[in-house]
Amino acid sequence: MPEELEQIGLVDIEVLHHQFDVDSVIRYVHEGIVPIDRTYPLDLYRKYEAQRWNISELDFTQDKADWMNLTDAERDTFLRVATGFHHGERQVAVDIVPLLMAAPRDEHKMYLTSQLEDETRHTLFFDRFYREVVGLAATDIMDTLDQSYRYMSETFIGSFGYLAYIADQIRRHPDNRKLLASGITNYHLWIEGVLALSVAKITLNFCKSQHKLPGFHKGFLATTRDESRHVVFGMKLLKELIADDPSLQSVVYETVITMLTMGSTYTQIIDYSPLLVERDDVRHIMMNNLRKKLNMVEIPIPQQLDKMISAVQPETAAGG
Ligand SMILES: [Fe+2]
Ligand SMILES: [Fe+2]
Repeated sequence: MPEELEQIGLVDIEVLHHQFDVDSVIRYVHEGIVPIDRTYPLDLYRKYEAQRWNISELDFTQDKADWMNLTDAERDTFLRVATGFHHGERQVAVDIVPLLMAAPRDEHKMYLTSQLEDETRHTLFFDRFYREVVGLAATDIMDTLDQSYRYMSETFIGSFGYLAYIADQIRRHPDNRKLLASGITNYHLWIEGVLALSVAKITLNFCKSQHKLPGFHKGFLATTRDESRHVVFGMKLLKELIADDPSLQSVVYETVITMLTMGSTYTQIIDYSPLLVERDDVRHIMMNNLRKKLNMVEIPIPQQLDKMISAVQPETAAGG
């Protein structure tokens, strides 16, 4: 593994914030935690122990000043992109428990306790940012989400709704491996591995290049590093499930096609230019993230899926 990627896994969040950017952390997601094999759940748990951070370490004083100095267009686009991540963190935090209970081995269940704690921390990180920096005067977690809902990407709603549905199905049928494979594809491959990494790249590159919102950059870059463990776990588990039952490979494809179909239905076009991103860049980021996940599961991309990926619109990645 290149030394830079190795460093990303070892440093504290202060060094991560100052010395690295989201592009190197996304490389760490795809290349930095391989190769590991059947021991992956506890290897990832040990990484969690080393990388864990606290929301109370973050100082949003500069972020509050920066937020007031952004243009209206910058604030609007930033919220349209970031809000999907905030709502997504809450959705995965509340829906992970049925997946934990249905996971085949004890090592999977032990690892997933760390992911539950990460997702809780990520939800509370965004809750704090929206209250203290964006300025939502919310009474509780749900009130923050309700108030930011008007910025919520319509293309994310289907993916999060599917997670609520499939998590409930897994709760009712914990031994059904098809349901589990679909749930892991929706959660770890699509929501974390495609949507989340695309949103992270857009917002964090803006913060880093403009020297703005340092508290957000520090917390969200640490969040993105946490997601590397989640994505690697999910892709390894899918590989393991498919090795035990090759028919589950088609469940992965069907779930991705469902996500692409639901995510491609939108009524609003987002203007990314205030965050210095071109529409074609977003499309490229998203397609790249999706192809890399399927490569990590080590399954080929069928022609029908390949055509859908090539035709994807940026709204599917970051909402309209
Ligand atoms: Fe998360
Ligand atoms: Fe996650």
